[in-house]
Amino acid sequence: MAWKADFLISLAIIVASSVIAPVALGTSYIVGDEKGWALDVDYQAWAKSKTFYEDDKLIFKYDNKSHNVHIVDEKQFKFCEGSGTPVLSSGNDTVNLPIAGRTWYIDGVGRHCKDRKMHMAIDVLSAPPSPPPPSSSPPPPTANSVVVSTDHFAWVMASIIILVCHHWTY
Ligand SMILES: *[C@@H]1O[C@H](CO)[C@@H](O)[C@H](O)[C@H]1NC(C)=O
Ligand SMILES: *[C@@H]1O[C@H](CO)[C@@H](O)[C@H](O)[C@H]1NC(C)=O
Repeated sequence: MAWKADFLISLAIIVASSVIAPVALGTSYIVGDEKGWALDVDYQAWAKSKTFYEDDKLIFKYDNKSHNVHIVDEKQFKFCEGSGTPVLSSGNDTVNLPIAGRTWYIDGVGRHCKDRKMHMAIDVLSAPPSPPPPSSSPPPPTANSVVVSTDHFAWVMASIIILVCHHWTY
């Protein structure tokens, strides 16, 4: 009997774990794609071509002898003013975007911000799009059909199996 209980416990664990949704990790974007963080790239257009959500990441890739990244506010962005702001200078910098809203980045070297387009505003949206449902055909909405979600069903199954195991062990 013991092997049977072991088997059923394993099965219960498999069933239960299959319903735990994978953790959303966010998407990483290399700023400027293959051009990286460089002179004369239209970062405003680049930013508009993407949709950023909370927990996404920006990766700035550049030659750190020529460039840096200042994280600025809206006014500093407008005036290309980077002094006194947080600065990144490794040449391979990851910026997390944990909060919805707008954030601003400029290159603080020379006139790269003013004259060479190295300034960028990023809009971050609050909710990532929910993943598409696993089944493409939803159950027909008939009045007397019983709709049981797969998650709920799996947990009920797991509970039943655990109860049966418990019963059989003693
Ligand atoms: C440039 O990057 C190298 C390696 O990532 C680092 O050791 C160096 O300190 C950086 N230079 C500056 C100015 O941050
Ligand atoms: C850049 O940083 C990421 C992690 O932040 C690392 O995985 C990657 O290897 C780095 N790339 C280079 C070229 O240093």
